[in-house]
Amino acid sequence: MLKKKKNSGTAASRNMVVAEKPHATASEQFRTIRTNIMYAGVDDPIRSVLFTSATPGAGKSTVAANMAIAYAQAGIKTLLLDGDLRRPTTHYTFEVPNRKGLSAALIKDVPVEDEVMHTAFEGLDLITSGPIPPNPAELLASRSMERFMQSVIIQYEMVLIDSPPILSVTDAQLLCRHADGVILVTDVENNNRDELIEAKTLLDKSGANIIGVVLNNREVRPSGAEGYYYPEAVTDS
Ligand SMILES: Nc1ncnc2c1ncn2[C@@H]1O[C@H](COP(=O)(O)OP(=O)(O)O)[C@@H](O)[C@H]1O
Ligand SMILES: [Mg+2]
Repeated sequence: MLKKKKNSGTAASRNMVVAEKPHATASEQFRTIRTNIMYAGVDDPIRSVLFTSATPGAGKSTVAANMAIAYAQAGIKTLLLDGDLRRPTTHYTFEVPNRKGLSAALIKDVPVEDEVMHTAFEGLDLITSGPIPPNPAELLASRSMERFMQSVIIQYEMVLIDSPPILSVTDAQLLCRHADGVILVTDVENNNRDELIEAKTLLDKSGANIIGVVLNNREVRPSGAEGYYYPEAVTDS
């Protein structure tokens, strides 16, 4: 069971259903996605996953944060990295300051440990976006980013990376180089087949290993229980 520490974010404010309602259908779905990711990496274990979407508002950040908590709940040492240097939200979700973080680390080239924040959840660390820089793509494409990710990956068992939408800016294409697997999140209410195909094409061009699609925002109507909107895992992209 998840243990909370004192004096840090509770992740209660932004649909952190995995933390708030571990028995809800949605929470079960996040655990299923966790299992599916494990099976997606039978020969080469997947230790870093990028969450992206075609367009904004699909639920990337919500899914990434819930997945991060789901990993920590399984006793896996996890880092949630906010790679959205344009519209970051992780610091809001976990109610922490955003003075330090990825952008600060890349500009100053400081050790990863200087930028890490511990969350309320045992086994879950956070690196927020840091102050929004004028040149996000340049930072993400830098050698400093390479060094940063090399250092991160040896310190955690699982690194989950949040990112901007892939059809809007190039950032997610740059970030997917650093991820063993990519998950495309889509809001079923606003699904656009052509946009999804375009997103997949861009990811393929970047050499991304797309391991699945999360259909977010599907209404649950089983036994009338919760009326919660949940993400559904689709294993084969
Ligand atoms: N499955 C869900 N159920 C309820 N609200 C959701 C769900 N997924 C996302 N949201 C809400 O929708 C908004 C956009 O989600 P967010 O994760 O910030 O999208 P993105 O990071 O893709 O832009 C947020 O206010 C979030 O709390
Ligand atoms: Mg987001």
